[in-house]
Amino acid sequence: MQTITLDRYADVRDAFRQHDLRQDMYDAGGLVMADCLLVLHGAEHRVRRRVENRLFRRGTFRHWEREFLHDVVRDTLRPFVDAGRGDLVEIGYRTVMNLTAMVAGVDRPHGSPEETDALYRFAKKFSEGATLVHTTRDPAEVQAEVSAALAEFDVSFLQPSIARRQALIARLDTGELTESELPRDVLTALLRNRDELGVDDDVIRRECAFYLQAGSHSTANAFTHAAHDYFTWAAQPGSTVGATTDGALLQHCVYESLRLHPASPVAQRRALAPITLRSGTEIPEGTVVVMDLAGANRDAAVFDRPLEYDPLREVPDDVPRWGHAFGGGMHACIGTELAGGVPSSEDGEQVLGTVTLMLGALIEAGGRPDPADPAERDPHSAREHFGRYPVVFDA
Ligand code: HEM
Repeated sequence: MQTITLDRYADVRDAFRQHDLRQDMYDAGGLVMADCLLVLHGAEHRVRRRVENRLFRRGTFRHWEREFLHDVVRDTLRPFVDAGRGDLVEIGYRTVMNLTAMVAGVDRPHGSPEETDALYRFAKKFSEGATLVHTTRDPAEVQAEVSAALAEFDVSFLQPSIARRQALIARLDTGELTESELPRDVLTALLRNRDELGVDDDVIRRECAFYLQAGSHSTANAFTHAAHDYFTWAAQPGSTVGATTDGALLQHCVYESLRLHPASPVAQRRALAPITLRSGTEIPEGTVVVMDLAGANRDAAVFDRPLEYDPLREVPDDVPRWGHAFGGGMHACIGTELAGGVPSSEDGEQVLGTVTLMLGALIEAGGRPDPADPAERDPHSAREHFGRYPVVFDA
């Protein structure tokens, strides 16, 4: 079967917008991914996305950021600051796991660290299942573990979350509650629209599991990379950055790290019909199209000195600073605003996004790399993520 790899910025943007290119990355990961938003196509995708998009309207995350995101970030960081040390990978996951569970609609009845750890364990296993195509282990063994994790997740978290929401929806139906008193999360949206969407219990379970892992790994990895790039930049001879708390500057730093280290370095599609891209590239029907997001984000035709980390760089007006890190077209990341905020110049009111809030809180608390214990890459990931990143906090 023919494969075409696109690594030019314009080609990838054009390919994202092609309706005849269908998601092709997760067939092997069906145990977790079958019928999830990210693998649906055409009308099915449109209807599901419309229902789930309602939660992700611009105002929602502006409200979250104003009301509680700062506190979530600071509260999660506090025990590490008090202890004088921590690991950015752990700090990242602890912060985003609970936020992602809120978005998915997975309750944590006790709000305990043990629950967060359990969700983290599930999210890691679901992610391993989703990317089964890349596994270096025995696929059957991974599948058995993923099935067991899904069953355990269902009993311990999902069923109680469904029961609570169904009771609330019943009270809405009898007029005891108003619309605004229902939780604003994916699970509630699916339960309320299950007939229109044609989703059964299995699909609901997979969609919640998918959200848990899609939101957490990407955000936690973006945080670790952003912190590392920032520390390296600030430590350069002659740097005047210091311990900045300027939100707009830190947001530029986060976007620049996302450009250089996109959480998903490639996207993959299959051509349902013959396609000709604007550049003239011909894609015959049936071709597998690999979109090299990391490569396209280093395209010198768009990004001057593309390999250099320069948060203050100029970018063309029609190019986001993060390049293709949040994807594009029909599957463009639904969590862009939660994770990345809204670029400061685009709007009067600033929405910094979770990663920038996390980076700001880390710097404000005096966090810096532990000089006695250097960070290490994750040996089990081909994706140059950090496996551990020890930091110390200056009192
Ligand atoms: C820095 C953080 C993040 C990055 C870099 C990121 C990246 C991406 C990318 C590249 C895609 C498209 C994949 C493709 O086209 O094959 C995507 C889709 C998606 N992301 Fe994110 N993501 C992030 C955070 C989040 C968060 C916080 C959530 C939710 C809580 C989320 C939920 C989703 C969903 C549901 C989709 C599928 C959308 C669709 O198919 O219509 N992501 N993300």
